[in-house]
Amino acid sequence: MKGIVLAGGAGTRLHPLTRALSKQLLPVYDKPMIYYPLSVLMLAGIREILVITTPWDRMSFERLLESGENLGIEISFAEQPQPNGLAEAFIIGRDFVGSDSVCLVLGDNIFYGAGLSLLLRQAREELDGAVLFACQVQDPERYGVVEMTPDGSVLGIEEKPQRPKSPFAVTGLYFYDNRVLDIAAGLRPSARGELEITDVNNTYLREGHAKVKLLGRGYAWLDTGTHQSLLDASQFVATLQRRQGTYVACLEEIAYRMGFIDRAGLERTVAAHGKSEYAAYLRTVLAEE
Ligand code: DAU
Repeated sequence: MKGIVLAGGAGTRLHPLTRALSKQLLPVYDKPMIYYPLSVLMLAGIREILVITTPWDRMSFERLLESGENLGIEISFAEQPQPNGLAEAFIIGRDFVGSDSVCLVLGDNIFYGAGLSLLLRQAREELDGAVLFACQVQDPERYGVVEMTPDGSVLGIEEKPQRPKSPFAVTGLYFYDNRVLDIAAGLRPSARGELEITDVNNTYLREGHAKVKLLGRGYAWLDTGTHQSLLDASQFVATLQRRQGTYVACLEEIAYRMGFIDRAGLERTVAAHGKSEYAAYLRTVLAEE
């Protein structure tokens, strides 16, 4: 399975913060935002990852992530010149995905929960079409919203409905089989001029090949769309890390625990992080055994 992080977009809702810096490079407490969705792909065991950025931000992402070698993964980069919609990821990423299945994660989505790794592995194993995740939120009208029957079967998804039919928003994490490439290629822009991921998902749903998994109370799906929610996300990460002494989305730790890099690889990375708290944390990981 291949992985795509979509990290383009204009970021206008966070101006002036995002006038000179990509939204997905903004700090969420102590790490660039993109670390969080990247960690999700790595926890799903995905090691070939395409990062899609705007042409002008590409160099910054390349400087940050390099080839992925220090994480034992392969990162490549592609550009999306205009924010033409999330489904364009599969048009830009067509050659990269090839004949494989693919997991798309939005570069501004943050997930946290003890059972996350298991959930991701299950999604990969069960994949027969599409696997989507939904989460209860207070402001569903800002998202793709799941319409369900009382017994929980999903009828469809509405993008930013004025009158949401449920409180369950579709998160920015999507697993698809290879057919997604053709489905995306056949899309027409929506009324707001975007190639909608919701149209892709509804195609799979209509054909009976989409599963929607609910992220229940044990999970946090954090928003970074407003200044306040960005601050909330930072505080959430800070609180957890301070209280538990374990990091959220520490990519080198994940690479090490997933067996993508060995001890020597982790030691090299620690040295590269200098005198930061991040390096000090990685030393505690090394000292564990
Ligand atoms: O976060 C989950 C939601 O993401 C879903 O519930 C919605 O169904 C889905 O459409 C999407 O909602 P938004 O319309 O709010 O997405 P937004 O335009 O904020 O873009 C999400 C991220 O993807 C953001 O970091 C910018 C980036 N992006 C967006 C577009 C439209 C791109 O990289 N390229 C794009 O063309």
